[in-house]
Amino acid sequence: MRTHYCGAVNADHSGQIVTLCGWASRRRDHGGVIFIDLRDREGTVQVVIDPDTPEAFKTAEDTRNEFVLKVVGKVRARPAGTENPNLPTGMVEVLTQSLEVLNPSLTPPFQIDDENLSENIRLQYRYLDLRREPMQKNMRLRYRVSKLMRDYLDVNGFLEIETPMLTRSTPEGARDYLVPSRVHDGMFYALPQSPQLFKQLLMVAGFDRYFQITKCFRDEDLRADRQPEFTQVDLETSFMGEDEIMALVEGMIRDMFQKAQSVELPTAFPRMSYAEAMNRYGSDKPDMRVTLEITELTDVMKDVDFKVFSGPANDPKGRVAALRVPKGGEMSRGEIDGLTEFAKIYGAKGLAWIKVNEAAKGRDGLQSPIVKNIHDAALVEILARSGAQDGDILFFGADKAKVVNDALGALRAKIGHEKGHVDGRAWAPLWVVDFPMFEFNEDPETKISRWDALHHPFTSPKDGHEEYLATDPGKALSKAYDMVLNGWEVGGGSVRIHKEAIQEKVFAALNIGEEERREKFGFLLDALQYGAPPHGGLAFGLDRLVTLMTGSESIRDVIAFPKTQRASCLMTSAPNAVDEKQLRELHIRLRQKAVELS
Ligand code: AMO
Ligand code: AMP
Repeated sequence: MRTHYCGAVNADHSGQIVTLCGWASRRRDHGGVIFIDLRDREGTVQVVIDPDTPEAFKTAEDTRNEFVLKVVGKVRARPAGTENPNLPTGMVEVLTQSLEVLNPSLTPPFQIDDENLSENIRLQYRYLDLRREPMQKNMRLRYRVSKLMRDYLDVNGFLEIETPMLTRSTPEGARDYLVPSRVHDGMFYALPQSPQLFKQLLMVAGFDRYFQITKCFRDEDLRADRQPEFTQVDLETSFMGEDEIMALVEGMIRDMFQKAQSVELPTAFPRMSYAEAMNRYGSDKPDMRVTLEITELTDVMKDVDFKVFSGPANDPKGRVAALRVPKGGEMSRGEIDGLTEFAKIYGAKGLAWIKVNEAAKGRDGLQSPIVKNIHDAALVEILARSGAQDGDILFFGADKAKVVNDALGALRAKIGHEKGHVDGRAWAPLWVVDFPMFEFNEDPETKISRWDALHHPFTSPKDGHEEYLATDPGKALSKAYDMVLNGWEVGGGSVRIHKEAIQEKVFAALNIGEEERREKFGFLLDALQYGAPPHGGLAFGLDRLVTLMTGSESIRDVIAFPKTQRASCLMTSAPNAVDEKQLRELHIRLRQKAVELS
């Protein structure tokens, strides 16, 4: 049917007769001669149709954008002065001998190379959106990245083994997607939030090294870096400790960046404890390219005559901290108000600030709505600790530690990028380690506080921290590690619990009763007693890695058919209502009639 890809035709083919198939991406009528840019996945080539071939010329006149064409013609150099050095095919054109319309097209709802399309129209006509060059490139890179990781794992002795999609809930912190059973009246499968338990059981089964590139499903609030179904590069190993696992997967990421993008990542990714990351950056996934840091001030604010600060400073769960922005003294009131609104998104009640005009003048050299409330010793300490210089601004967070960290952490990234407080690196990988086993959360419904697993409940405590499980769960650290790249959590894993007794202790700390343990995790607790080897692993978010590598803003741009922020598919209109018969077979009666998507 064809001899070459459109985008592959070049000067080497000059004089050859080629047969090309592709889409008409633009047609230009130059009075007497018609030019069509013929496009396929490899690129576009200029096709020239001369009135000397009257049949082809007639067809070309009737051709519209996105018609599928077959062209037979002769490759020739473009006339001097009309070459396009920016295009791989730009030195040549194809003089048509015959032209056939393989299939016409309706007028597309948008011009394929339009760069300012609304995302909704793109998602509705995704098959047209995917014809666009950036999307073709993204999907190719995605394939290349997963192929490179698969190859690396293969070379390192990993076996790809599939695990079920119709399964029992695996807790990873999100809501499950449930699938009703027709055969078992009133029963449901859960789609996996991850293959976590199955991969651990594969280690018990002796496979030693497992991986899988697989879909995971989580019903959670969606953001730019989250989809309800997403892809993990998931792996698990036996008889390896944290350092060995981290070295192995770090090698995979380095190898992949090198081969896919000729990017050399550092030979050993730096490591930072969770506590340090929260303290200095207000985040467990800090963007290390940003040079701004947070200064701890809780102890300094305990006795100031300003409730906004002294309250949180004396609350065991509170924190007072400041973000120093060098040269930030130039910020206008309007700008500061804008940042205050931004901080409020993260729960902050305000954003106190001090402009350091002239530190040598002491209190009089500071401009701020709050200095009148802060005694001299505290002011001196604020300046000393933060290292603030004349011309800087300090922003303050005072609240529950979580709110302060979220707000100042987000401000740090925002101001850092907007004001150029970055170190110039393209890639800043980081391992965050020494995570706490648990975090203390308030149940949004019952308002009762309880310990939740920070990663998942199968994560092993650090050596020596086992005793805290019963006595002081908040103190227990885990053998978990997250890989962070440019402020995104791209992967996370841990060494697992391989002894039943410890797993029971963790369930107890999580207040999961005996009965519930047996009911939900009996198979795991049993398996751990049949010679479970020490094991551990990790999972990468493939979508996130590729998003970063392509420089896309949202992971939707690297997924062929993604869902919207409201978890719907605008092309197929999923989810959709189903008919009564189907519901009856599934033993389901709706509490209210479904409202169809508009
Ligand atoms: P975790 O929950 O950290 O770990 O997930 C692993 C990685 O998957 C990516 N990710 C997501 N990507 C897109 N949309 C989402 N909704 C989403 N949720 C997570 C992130 C994350 O780092 N079973 C463990 C892994 C292990 O311990 O081996 C797990 O699933 O990049
Ligand atoms: P107020 O005393 O409420 O007028 O606040 C004085 C300054 O403190 C204002 O600049 C507020 O934006 C700021 N502020 C109020 N609450 C907080 C808080 N919890 N954390 C940081 N700054 C705050």
